[in-house]
Amino acid sequence: MSDEIVIAPGGPLRGELRVPGDKSISHRALICNALAEGEARISGLLDSADCRSTMACLKQWGVEFETDADEVLVRSPGQQSFRQAQDTLDCGNSGTSIRLLSGVAAGLPFRSWFDGDDSLRGRPMRRVLDPLATMGALVDVADTAPFWVDGSDGLRQGFDGELAVASAQVKSCIVFAALQADRPSRIVEPGPSRDHTERMLGAMGADIEVDGPTLHVRPGATLAASDVDVPADISAAAFWMIAAALIPGSDIALPNVGVNPTRSGVIDVLRSMGAIVELRDQRDVSGEPVADIVVRGSKLYGTRIDGDLIVTSLDELPTLAVAAAFAEGITEIHDAEELRVKESDRIETTSAMLTAMGVEVEEWRDGMRIIGGRPRGAAVDSHGDHRLAMAAAVAALASDPESGPTTIRRASAVEISYPSFWSDLDRLRHVAI
Ligand code: S3P
Repeated sequence: MSDEIVIAPGGPLRGELRVPGDKSISHRALICNALAEGEARISGLLDSADCRSTMACLKQWGVEFETDADEVLVRSPGQQSFRQAQDTLDCGNSGTSIRLLSGVAAGLPFRSWFDGDDSLRGRPMRRVLDPLATMGALVDVADTAPFWVDGSDGLRQGFDGELAVASAQVKSCIVFAALQADRPSRIVEPGPSRDHTERMLGAMGADIEVDGPTLHVRPGATLAASDVDVPADISAAAFWMIAAALIPGSDIALPNVGVNPTRSGVIDVLRSMGAIVELRDQRDVSGEPVADIVVRGSKLYGTRIDGDLIVTSLDELPTLAVAAAFAEGITEIHDAEELRVKESDRIETTSAMLTAMGVEVEEWRDGMRIIGGRPRGAAVDSHGDHRLAMAAAVAALASDPESGPTTIRRASAVEISYPSFWSDLDRLRHVAI
């Protein structure tokens, strides 16, 4: 079966679109409620391959899920009553599943085996296994999946120190383990990564105190199962925000998008490029800041993306690189070495995609320089990376109409985080007159 999609240039994008639920918050709503004994309803949960991986793993530990209209009911015996999985916990393509669940596994009195697909097997896992070992967990010597984590000896130590990377997956892993440790933990973040885990666990009754970059976690509190209303995913909304900003005449509204400041760097970067992005009706939903986002097409200029902006726009950087390819002037991205260990090496795969489309790109260890121009349609490859497939679609839409369509190989990668991406594209798209 062909796994290609052909996209002709054209726009503008117009109308209102509800993008799917936030992937990071969906994983956490499932995991945090699995830890608590009882029942909780999650509305707006992202129904995608990555979230299904988390659910499949939790089911093996004895958690039950029921889908009822637009809601998912989580019914859990509580972490203390989890049973050992019969099989390997297959996390598929999902770094969030494997790293967060490793932290949970460290608090379970048996061995859990983890694995994933070829992409996940290539991603670094010592960043979670090493700190878990310092807490007393028994862990495999492997650097990558497959590996095992075993909490049979208990977690005699809390974690105390600075994490090696500014990563929400690593931080969350250690927080989940810290909840089961014999002693309190002090976790210092080297940079401000997304904070959904601490927000959600705090609201469920966990003893977590956030003091600037330091998290203090005291074990022993009982978690209360809690309903969660998952906002729309800013990382999914970003494709349309960037496409609309690029394509003249576009005017789109994206209701109910999560705008947590640890995630909203894409808005700051787009504005620094001259984009018109409005946030309306800012409010709090289930402890997360939410707004309706309106974007209109405008002229964009090159910018510099570095420092803390990298972590807050991390998953959007390939698509921001696409924006840069259409902007006037030069854009530089620095401090983004983490992109090399995502679902693909996103510095390499983004550069390859833009180069194929005729863009002048210079790649370096922790970023790239992009010379803005008029990218043209080409044959490009997602490398099985969902965000690359969608970034390529944005580039295809905005590309020079004279140059013909873009063919995206391995387009079904969008199933990982945004299964309705191609139909949403058709809904927003109005062929230019
Ligand atoms: C995620 C954290 C980020 C992000 C990933 C989802 C999460 O990774 O890239 O897509 O849900 O915790 P880091 O661990 O690098 O922060």
